[in-house]
Amino acid sequence: MKLLVTGGAGFIGSNFILYWLKNHPDDTIVNLDALTYAGNLENLVEVEKNPHYSFIKGDITDSSIVEKVMQGVDTVVHFAAESHVDRSISGPAIFVRTNVLGTQVLLDAAVKQKVKHFHHVSTDEVFGALKLNTTEKFSETTIYDPRSPYSASKAGSDHLVRAYYHTYGLPTTITNCSNNYGPFQHPEKLIPLAITNLLEGKKVPVYGDGLYVRDWLYVEDHCRAIETVFQKGKIGETYCVGGLTSDISNLEIVKKIAGLMGKTESTIEFVKDRPGHDRRYAIDWTKIQKELGWAPLHDFDTYLQTTINWYKENQEWWKHVKSGEYQNYYKMQYNTSP
Ligand code: NAD
Ligand code: TYD
Repeated sequence: MKLLVTGGAGFIGSNFILYWLKNHPDDTIVNLDALTYAGNLENLVEVEKNPHYSFIKGDITDSSIVEKVMQGVDTVVHFAAESHVDRSISGPAIFVRTNVLGTQVLLDAAVKQKVKHFHHVSTDEVFGALKLNTTEKFSETTIYDPRSPYSASKAGSDHLVRAYYHTYGLPTTITNCSNNYGPFQHPEKLIPLAITNLLEGKKVPVYGDGLYVRDWLYVEDHCRAIETVFQKGKIGETYCVGGLTSDISNLEIVKKIAGLMGKTESTIEFVKDRPGHDRRYAIDWTKIQKELGWAPLHDFDTYLQTTINWYKENQEWWKHVKSGEYQNYYKMQYNTSP
């Protein structure tokens, strides 16, 4: 099987490529990635010489490149996106361009090439926000209610994927997944930001009161969920994918990280809140469990420690990431040097 992976140099895309080639060594992967600030080929050193893997630098909004790389492809796994909510607040236009227009360009090329399966990787953030101290969860039947430019652009891409299934008969599936954590995550996101700031002896910025809740999934479980959808998923369907945490707040997570790293709570700094900050996300993953037999396997406490260890052992990787464009971003976002 020949797979086209978009955004394979990013956090989840690179974990997926490493996972897939380990478990499906006879398949071939073409990785199409524009190498934005979030793309990093250092994530893929392990496979760069593998004859079953190739990389093409290109933008998913460029139809001539997309049509070329789509040739001979059986399966598309579409990760490429602008993925950070805070950046979508300071600059929404690129989110619409990449996430909405880019997805449409890929879908068009997939229809032309008659690909057998187009899988779209999406987020639980399209469903909006839940209230604290309720048992409500997002599921496949939750009405879309995106509230940030990031989630609105991902919602737009989900709608386009469904439209191409109904209108052109493109064989599509979608996963709406919760917050991932694990190796190779850009330090702009909460968990790697906390770990790397603590490793550098800096404070960890917590937005608002810190009582915001996400559902957390170890990245390998997400890769396995996508694999399961390829193997057993029903075309035209959506699957919600979530983890094993139950209503853990950002503040609790940061305290946990500080504790595991031998730091005191004085390293935590409350900073200005994110505008329109979604209060709580929780995922009901019953459908993918019952229909396809997938469940998360990695518990939060153990794999948070694994993740901390990874950042401790791969300081060159994140120091390199933090040394470039990130410096300007951090100054703008937090009003202080990283
Ligand atoms: P990321 O920001 O780490 O990586 C995105 C990748 O896409 C980068 O390699 C970047 O270079 C590439 N890219 C960006 N614009 C491009 C363009 N125009 N053309 C080609 N490549 C481009 O993101 P991630 O955290 O790995 O997320 C991957 C996907 O999973 C996204 O679609 C995101 O919405 C979704 N998702 C992420 C999470 C999470 O917790 N990170 C959770 C659920 C869903
Ligand atoms: P993030 O990792 O940006 O993911 P998302 O916004 O997609 O959920 O943020 C996770 C949570 O952590 C979110 O509630 C915002 C919060 N947060 C902070 O409190 N401080 C920070 O510096 C960052 C980046 C996030």
